Amino acid sequence: MLETQNLTVRFGGHVAVNAVSCRFAPGTLTAIVGPNGAGKTTYFNLISGQLPASAGTVHLNGRELSGLSASARTRAGLGRAFQLTNLFPNLSVLENVRLAVQATKEGAHRRGLNLWSIWSDHAALTQRALEILQSVSMSAQQDAPVASLPHGDQRKLEVALLMALEPAVYMFDEPTAGMSHDEAPVILDLIRQLKKDKTKTILLVEHKMDVVRELADRIIVLHNGALVADGEPGEVMASSIVQEAYMGKAKVAA
Ligand SMILES: Nc1ncnc2c1ncn2[C@@H]1O[C@H](COP(=O)(O)OP(=O)(O)O)[C@@H](O)[C@H]1O
Ligand SMILES: [Mg+2]
Repeated sequence: MLETQNLTVRFGGHVAVNAVSCRFAPGTLTAIVGPNGAGKTTYFNLISGQLPASAGTVHLNGRELSGLSASARTRAGLGRAFQLTNLFPNLSVLENVRLAVQATKEGAHRRGLNLWSIWSDHAALTQRALEILQSVSMSAQQDAPVASLPHGDQRKLEVALLMALEPAVYMFDEPTAGMSHDEAPVILDLIRQLKKDKTKTILLVEHKMDVVRELADRIIVLHNGALVADGEPGEVMASSIVQEAYMGKAKVAA
């Protein structure tokens, strides 16, 4: 269970995320909606540790993560899409994904300097990286340097790297933004596959209401940094507060 309690951040006088208390259970996909500037990305940044909170806490399975660095939170199981600026731009797509797979299996390499196990680990890591690339339809680009990828492929690679981490919690922030009509379904399929697993906690910021309607088990609505609605999708979408104030804007943005 991922839980935020009174999570808050202020930028000067502006409260971008205002005392958000929410729990996210394994096996559920929660869509986070709300107009631009509502605080959705900032809420993710507070959970993942990219941004220090002004107040409030984050717990994962009872363990307090608030105060930990972003990388410590990643190790604890919080999966936030990599920023491509964190990658090795001159290494190939495959090498970058293999490094991400390796980072999660790091313990295996501390068992000792056994050449056989290093070689077999390397083969297994490569195999896993190739599978992940296939799942995002990027096998053809495996040898391309990351720096050379067009925008849509970069976004797909971000998702591939997130898959490589195998986190307990997946946070997707507008994962198909800027993707072509061919690319977006690949990512949505991956999210569908993750959902089938039934053990993952998935948080999805998404403007496209048809996507939200299909995938979400639950919707929460942020507005001016505050949580203003939370419930089963049909109920939240039908509520007057959402109909009038937020869905209209979200549709325009889609
Ligand atoms: N690092 C920052 N410094 C100052 N203001 C910020 C910062 N990050 C976000 N904000 C402000 O916080 C508010 C919420 O932004 P954001 O979380 O990006 O909204 P959303 O993702 O819902 O569109 C906006 O008013 C934005 O300008
Ligand atoms: Mg945002």
